[in-house]
Amino acid sequence: MGESVHAVTTLPTARPPGCPFDPPAELTEAQRHGPISRFTHFGGNPGWLITGYDLVRAVLADPRFSSRRELMNVVDYPLPPAPPGEFLLTDEPQHGRYRKPLVGRFTVRRMRLLTERVEQITTACLDAMEEAGPPADLVTSFAKPIPAIVICELLGVPYEDRGAFQEQIDAFVGGETDENKLLAAYTATQDYLAELVAAKRADPTDDVLSELTGSDLTDEELRGVALVLLAAGLDTTANMLSLGTFALLENPAQLAALRADPALADRAVEELLRYLSVAKSFMRTALEDVELGGRTIEAGTTVVLSYHTANRDPGRFADPHTLDIRRQSTGHLAFGHGIHQCLGQQLARVELRVALPALIGRFPTLRLAVPAGEVDLRPETADVYGVRSLPVAWDTEPS
Ligand code: HEM
Repeated sequence: MGESVHAVTTLPTARPPGCPFDPPAELTEAQRHGPISRFTHFGGNPGWLITGYDLVRAVLADPRFSSRRELMNVVDYPLPPAPPGEFLLTDEPQHGRYRKPLVGRFTVRRMRLLTERVEQITTACLDAMEEAGPPADLVTSFAKPIPAIVICELLGVPYEDRGAFQEQIDAFVGGETDENKLLAAYTATQDYLAELVAAKRADPTDDVLSELTGSDLTDEELRGVALVLLAAGLDTTANMLSLGTFALLENPAQLAALRADPALADRAVEELLRYLSVAKSFMRTALEDVELGGRTIEAGTTVVLSYHTANRDPGRFADPHTLDIRRQSTGHLAFGHGIHQCLGQQLARVELRVALPALIGRFPTLRLAVPAGEVDLRPETADVYGVRSLPVAWDTEPS
């Protein structure tokens, strides 16, 4: 190959200073050189980094690329296959066996029915915030509890278990970086889910897990499926709520436009999803040699797909680094594409479309309670990007 290829060594660990919503400069720079760059994985193995919208989408739609964890060629030791039921890391036909029985539970219609519940949950969180008064940490008072309560209802977690379960899952998916604590939280969550599955088998109620007990999935598989729903659905939504609020506060004209016209909520949510792309990147491994963007991806090579830069591709979205809640952002890849495209996307949309306008409507003077540069951001190395806390304040009525 005569022509030189841009190369990136391991994923960058920082965002551009003062630009907490933009992809790391190395990734934007790589995209400027072309949609595909040579890449060195964390463990030193050679791979490819794909930053262009069309190529990311093409890989996601191509069955010659696998999601199986044991095929990820990124470290110098073999990775174990996903435990039973954890279908995010499987290919067809296993993937469809797990996903199909769930699809009916996540349709647009089913999610519309949930809207009223999401409204009630949001109102309760906002009431509590208002009663406690400013300042508040938006993460603990708003962004985490809303998706956590929704997922508890979806999985049918009994009311009396919710407090303990929410603490448990927060340790599991809330960005914990200590490996030992993470493993302990993972094991405890698995144990609780095993009990929950047994309870639903014995006494089914109206929820996803009970419904799945009617499928041919084993208890172990059901536990794995429930774990995927938690792992994929909680932290992502929570960070979209908190980082989305931060982005709106940093773009006051956009915030004012949304506040003035709540009918813009659907577009605003799609644009925030595109702009922030909190689930930043995923990997796939080529099952055979594949020609892509003029390069050959050899069988067994793992490619990193940057959903964030794909969603900032100037060839797909005009002026991509500007947050513009009026633009038509549909077609963004914030929920992925292809067979693994986010199962919970309609639920996430309902939560965001309800909660964000409700928050800014309730507190017309909402503002950061610390300078923007002091907001505690997650490190770029976290799987899901976001904030650890978001101190906010607002004016209260003089009594
Ligand atoms: C704004 C919030 C969310 C974002 C940004 C998001 C993002 C994503 C992305 C990018 C993928 C594809 C991963 C890949 O390409 O390998 C995915 C898959 C998935 N998401 Fe979400 N997600 C969100 C909310 C949710 C919610 C609320 C749920 C469910 C309660 C959920 C459940 C899932 C599941 C089960 C998968 C795996 C699908 C499969 O492998 O077939 N997500 N999500």
